[in-house]
Amino acid sequence: MAKANYLCLSLLILLLLKCSHSHSHPFNILLPSDSLSSSSCPTHNPNLYYRPLIGILTHPGDGASGRLTNATDVSYIAASYVKFVESAGARVIPLLYNEPQDTLLKKLDMVNGVIFTGGWSKKGLYYDTVQTVYKKVLEKNDGGDYFPLYAISLGFELISIIISEDSNILDDFTSSKQPINLYLTQNAISDGAMFQRFPPDLLKKVTTDCLVLQNNRYGLSPEGLLNNEKLSSFFEILTTSKDANNKKNAFEWGTKNVPHTEDAVRLTQSAANFLVSEARKSSTRPDSQDVLDNLIYNYIPTYCGKAGKGYDQVYLFTQS
Ligand SMILES: *[C@@H]1O[C@H](CO)[C@@H](O)[C@H](O)[C@H]1NC(C)=O
Repeated sequence: MAKANYLCLSLLILLLLKCSHSHSHPFNILLPSDSLSSSSCPTHNPNLYYRPLIGILTHPGDGASGRLTNATDVSYIAASYVKFVESAGARVIPLLYNEPQDTLLKKLDMVNGVIFTGGWSKKGLYYDTVQTVYKKVLEKNDGGDYFPLYAISLGFELISIIISEDSNILDDFTSSKQPINLYLTQNAISDGAMFQRFPPDLLKKVTTDCLVLQNNRYGLSPEGLLNNEKLSSFFEILTTSKDANNKKNAFEWGTKNVPHTEDAVRLTQSAANFLVSEARKSSTRPDSQDVLDNLIYNYIPTYCGKAGKGYDQVYLFTQS
C-alpha cells in the first residue's frame, strides 16, 4: 500500500515537473483579444462544394417483406444508407426508380454523387433505371466533371453486368450474414483510392479483424473481372474477400452478426467520408429551393426492426 502511494506520489511529481517544464515554453493560452491573426479558421477550398448532396436510388418493395405494405408501386431506401451519408457531412435526395424519367434526370442534376443500394431486383424497370443513371454518371465524368458512384452489393452486381455487357459475369457465392476480413491489393492504397484515406491502424485491422459484414449470394471473382476486357479496363480491384464483400453497417441492429465494434463503426465512417470527399469535388451547385423541395427530410422513416429481421428503419415512396 505504502509502495503504491509512493508510486502515485512520484508520478504526481513527474507530472508537476512536466507542467513546470512546459511553462518555460511559449505555450500560453491565447485569449480572443490576444490572438495574433483576426481569424484562425482554415480558409475553404473554393474548388470544393461544402453542401454536397447524394442521390440514393430507391429499390422496389417496402424493404420489410410486405410487413409495411404490399403496394406494387412502393419503393424504399433503408434509413441506414441515409445515416451513412449524413455521418460524413452530406444530405440525401431520393431518386425514385419508378418516377418519370425527366423528374429523375432533373434530380440527378441536383446531386453531387449517387448510391446504388443492396437489394434483390435485377430486371425490369429497376434495372433500366440503374442503367439510365449509370450512363448519366459516366457522361458527367467523361465530360470532365467529378461525380462519384457508390455501388453497394446488388448495385455492384448490376453495374458489373452493365459494364461487362454479360449477364452471366457473376459467380455464385455462399456467404450469408458473415463477418469477414478483407484482402487488400496494391491498388487499394494508390492515389485517389478509397483505402488511401483510411486511418493507417484501421487499414491494418480490416485485413486481420472481421469488421465487414458480407451477405451476398453473387459476386465477381478476380478471374471473372480480369478475363472480361470491358470490366478490367474499367475497374481496379482494391479488395477481395473469401467471398464477395459487402459494406458492414453501423446503423443496423436486426442481424446479430453485424459488427458494432468501434473499429467496425470507424470503417463505415471512413467509407462514407471517402464518398462525400469525392462528392465535394463535383461542380454541381443546385438551386437551393429545388434542394429543399427534394431532400429526404420531406419523408418520414418507418421503424420496422421490431420484427427482428431486415432493416431497422425504411423510407417508403409511392409513385402514382
Ligand atoms: C402483404 O401480403 C402478405 C402475404 O399475403 C400478408 O401476410 C401481409 O399481411 C400483407 N401486408 C400488408 C401490410 O397488408
